Amino acid sequence: MTYDVVVIGAGAAGLMCALTAGYAGRRVLVVDHANKAGKKILMSGGGRCNFTNMATTPANFFSRNPHFCISALKRYRPEHFVELVERHGVEHVEKAPGQLFCAGSAKELLDVLLTECEWAGVELRLKTSVSAVERQGEGMRLSTSLGRIEAGAVVVATGGLSIPTMGATGFGYDIARQFGLEVTETRAALVPFTLTSHWKARAASLAGLSHEVVVRCNGGEYREPMLFTHRGLSGPAMLQISSYWQAGDALTIDLLPDIDTFDALAAARRETPKRRLSTWLAERLPRRLAQAMVEWHGGDAPLAECSNATLTAWAGHLNDWHLKPAGTEGWRTAEVTLGGIDTRDLSSKTFEVQGLPQLRFIGEVLDVTGELGGYNFQWAWASGVACGQAV
Ligand code: FDA
Repeated sequence: MTYDVVVIGAGAAGLMCALTAGYAGRRVLVVDHANKAGKKILMSGGGRCNFTNMATTPANFFSRNPHFCISALKRYRPEHFVELVERHGVEHVEKAPGQLFCAGSAKELLDVLLTECEWAGVELRLKTSVSAVERQGEGMRLSTSLGRIEAGAVVVATGGLSIPTMGATGFGYDIARQFGLEVTETRAALVPFTLTSHWKARAASLAGLSHEVVVRCNGGEYREPMLFTHRGLSGPAMLQISSYWQAGDALTIDLLPDIDTFDALAAARRETPKRRLSTWLAERLPRRLAQAMVEWHGGDAPLAECSNATLTAWAGHLNDWHLKPAGTEGWRTAEVTLGGIDTRDLSSKTFEVQGLPQLRFIGEVLDVTGELGGYNFQWAWASGVACGQAV
């Protein structure tokens, strides 16, 4: 079998690249070892896929080579993808500023990509494994469960390591290393935190409760909801900061980001000395959280009986809570992989390996990782289109 382009991975980036190359007149085959295309599209955004963020800029991405993503993101913008889904009549909603989700189901979005692939003449082979990728003169040769396939170019779009049960593998990294590319350290990101013994029990007692906080770690800072879970802490604030966190680090959590707790409590002590600290807390925090804080730290006394040292301690608990997670939930639940194939040996315009244009890498397999909020799909679309136009 001979094709102009073989794409390995029928995920967001691979399908986008394939349909773009197909429309450009290329004979394209997409292979995937999974039994279904686009599984992560289907499971993303709670089944409604946060498919882009209208405010995407290169600053929303982590990479050792931060300039790499600029060109593709500039050429294929969120408006372009919105135009594509609207052309297919897919309705969408803006759940948070800039974050677009399908109004119905993520399946509609996957159907757009599969329909476009069909119109563009792309062949899709699922349940197909690839055992070897080798250079063959000006082209490439693949050994697959379909037999030997010859290709003018191979595009590796096998994604990252998160959710192995969905078909994630390190195959793309292996191919990169085989051809002499570096792979930066990979780490589970956009992932909930786990806690140790007494904090775990405390979080579990509040499981399901969400509260807006400011969380900081290693220079990162997010103001978003935090969710207590049976295993620890989750919610957008925690998923976002996990991209900055390293094992052993403490998080700094501000439970009352608009209030200077010491000053506010000192004023309340002057003005309403009989009032209890627990009442003051209950007016500013969700009731269950306020009750739990009093259980954890004591202090149901009237404010008049609270010394400055007590107010300072409460300012610490509320505005500057230092918490060391035990770890993260890891690849099992992580949304993305931080790190990946070092982009310094790739063209940011065509995604080809320098000196080996018949081999390209796109999407999450690269060391380009977005924040939470639709940025990772925008990267998949933009890198897929840039590569598909050039290959
Ligand atoms: P993707 O992982 O989509 O596709 C890779 C494909 O390669 C898969 O089909 C896989 O089966 C195949 N493959 C892997 N190894 C192979 C091998 N050895 N041989 C053959 N095929 C192989 N992002 C976002 O922007 N908004 C959101 O709402 C969410 N939500 C979300 C929820 C959850 C639960 C997860 C896990 C992830 C998200 N994401 C997200 C992240 C987003 O899903 C992710 O960044 C993109 O899917 C990456 O697209 P790729 O095409 O690069 O990889």
